[in-house]
Amino acid sequence: MKTHRKLLWLAFISALVIVLAACGGGGDSSSAAEPAAEAAVATGDSAHGEELFVATCLACHGEGGIGIEGLGKDMTTSEFIKGLSDAELLAFIKTGRSVSDPANTTGVDMPLKGGNPALTDDDIMDIIAYIRTLQK
Ligand code: HEC
Repeated sequence: MKTHRKLLWLAFISALVIVLAACGGGGDSSSAAEPAAEAAVATGDSAHGEELFVATCLACHGEGGIGIEGLGKDMTTSEFIKGLSDAELLAFIKTGRSVSDPANTTGVDMPLKGGNPALTDDDIMDIIAYIRTLQK
């Protein structure tokens, strides 16, 4: 009878230890970085987008996106941009519009991702947020 109780007690203690360890481990591992990452996906950061625009798009689309004759189109008055959702614009920028595309209007290539393959979807969403601020 006595040993039986001791065994039960031991079993109880070890179960408790396992449960506590599991809870502790789960709590520590993830919480710190996640909220910030989610926020970045939800709304584009136009300040970061401006930096990326200057580095990648400005050479063709000009300061403030006003366009450069013979290079990139004016973004400030673009009905095409106005008519697309952020998701559609993301898809467009990831594809570009080469001269072989029947939709091309200038005879000049719009390279995919503006020719910068390092841009992530989040980066491009930031650029889109910036482009939205340029539109008249
Ligand atoms: C090498 C020059 C070049 C670069 C760099 C470039 N573009 Fe373009 N972009 C173009 C050209 C040319 C067009 C017009 C294509 C056509 O003839 O329809 C265009 C068109 C566009 C359009 C469609 C505008 C409209 O009204 O039809 C968007 C949006 C756009 N570019 C976004 C970007 C973004 C964002 C970047 C930077 C990540 C970028 N471009 C970088 C040359 C460029």
